[in-house]
Amino acid sequence: MKSSNIVLIGFMGVGKGTVARALAAQSGMFALDCDDMIESYANKKIGQIFKEQGEQSFRKMEESLAKFLEKSVRCAVISTGGGFYAVKNLNKIGTVVYLKSSFEGIINRLKNSENAEKKFAKRPLLADLQKAAALHAQRNGAYEKKADIVIDVENKSVKKIVKEICSACDGLNLKGKKMSKQKRSGGGKNSEPHGKEGKDDKLEKKEALKQKLRELIEGLEREEIPKRVIAWHFDLYEPYALELAGSSSFDADDNDWACEDEDEFYPQSSRLQLEFLSELSWRQVLKMLVQALRELREQMPSAKIFECKHVAAGFVDGDLILI
Ligand code: S3P
Repeated sequence: MKSSNIVLIGFMGVGKGTVARALAAQSGMFALDCDDMIESYANKKIGQIFKEQGEQSFRKMEESLAKFLEKSVRCAVISTGGGFYAVKNLNKIGTVVYLKSSFEGIINRLKNSENAEKKFAKRPLLADLQKAAALHAQRNGAYEKKADIVIDVENKSVKKIVKEICSACDGLNLKGKKMSKQKRSGGGKNSEPHGKEGKDDKLEKKEALKQKLRELIEGLEREEIPKRVIAWHFDLYEPYALELAGSSSFDADDNDWACEDEDEFYPQSSRLQLEFLSELSWRQVLKMLVQALRELREQMPSAKIFECKHVAAGFVDGDLILI
């Protein structure tokens, strides 16, 4: 089973540490950096380890760190060194997210950053840019193979990258502080269905949910939608009910945009009772809702609601996930 860590991989200088810290701040997890951990373990800077002990020795330290992380670390956002992806147990440490960028994008990012010189100097493998470009080309495919999730980070703000990671990890629910404000009830570990029977049961429930959503969306086709509506959100309530609202504001950088809108539009039939989902945990219900809506978006692309670019779903007191 995967542990609850998020492991950021990618080439040197792509911004793994910065993103890890921002993701940690938003999710209430702690950020750990592999290079920092190795430096404190060896009591030497990375450059010094390479120079005095050689790269092989550094790679061995990465392997032992990887074992330690798998065994002992939970609920952390872990930024890794660019070569850490090669450790044997990478995918057992947590969900692996590859921060992807072109080589030029990375070099420009470093050149335009504060302390650019220091950032180049501390990375022995960036000393020769031609060799580094070849290494980037060689590793790109391997990073993708190891990743559970690939996020293209080029020319994106840290906020946007964090948001994309959160929504790609929607099943993992990186809700952190906001979610923990209110303890969720509504089913739980003990009530989650098991085995094949559980799987079939969940499939059936998902189909039932999809059917109800389809009817809601079809109902909207017959309604006059005010011009001010530029975004739609499906809000989940516990035990389980759902409400659809149209919003006149949308802020891609604010996971909470729907809650701040005082000028909401509610269609005539905007509510669904979802008691048939009551023995599922809130995580399962949220995941199911997001999946069902994404499938419906594919199947009914010309429905009014999906003509709108911004459609999202979430619990009323949690973050919204874009569909
Ligand atoms: C390396 C990347 C570095 C550091 C070491 C080796 C690599 O980390 O671990 O210099 O092999 O790509 P960053 O990715 O944080 O620069």
